[in-house]
Amino acid sequence: MTKRRDFIKTTLLMAAGTAIGSSSVATAKTKSKFTGIVYSADDPGKWEKKVGSHAPKVAVEGKNVTITTKHGMTEQHYIVRHTLVCEKGYVLGEKTFYPTNKKAVSTFTLPEKHGSVLYATSFCNKHDLWVTEFSV
Ligand SMILES: [Fe+2]
Repeated sequence: MTKRRDFIKTTLLMAAGTAIGSSSVATAKTKSKFTGIVYSADDPGKWEKKVGSHAPKVAVEGKNVTITTKHGMTEQHYIVRHTLVCEKGYVLGEKTFYPTNKKAVSTFTLPEKHGSVLYATSFCNKHDLWVTEFSV
């Protein structure tokens, strides 16, 4: 489990570094060096038709961050996990789902020092790891 967390943290940090180091010119689709490993609305790779049901949506109200993945929850196909990660790679919140959960929705309270750039992740048991970067 620790190795998996380290992998996700390292991947997110590297993705953040790639995003920061990339051109500021806006493009419709932004490829990262993690294409095919971590998916996003801007870089959905082979899952382009899955963006709406897999890229995590984020709502911020005060210190609360709600992550929603608009995805069905059945025994064969469901959202396994959400995480909220800060730019430095610290996991600020995590929630594991089960097929018996009706929705993949999680709410986390931001700690005092969280930085302005955050990442919401959502992992589907069939369509891999997705990330949405956002600022607060
Ligand atoms: Fe899926």
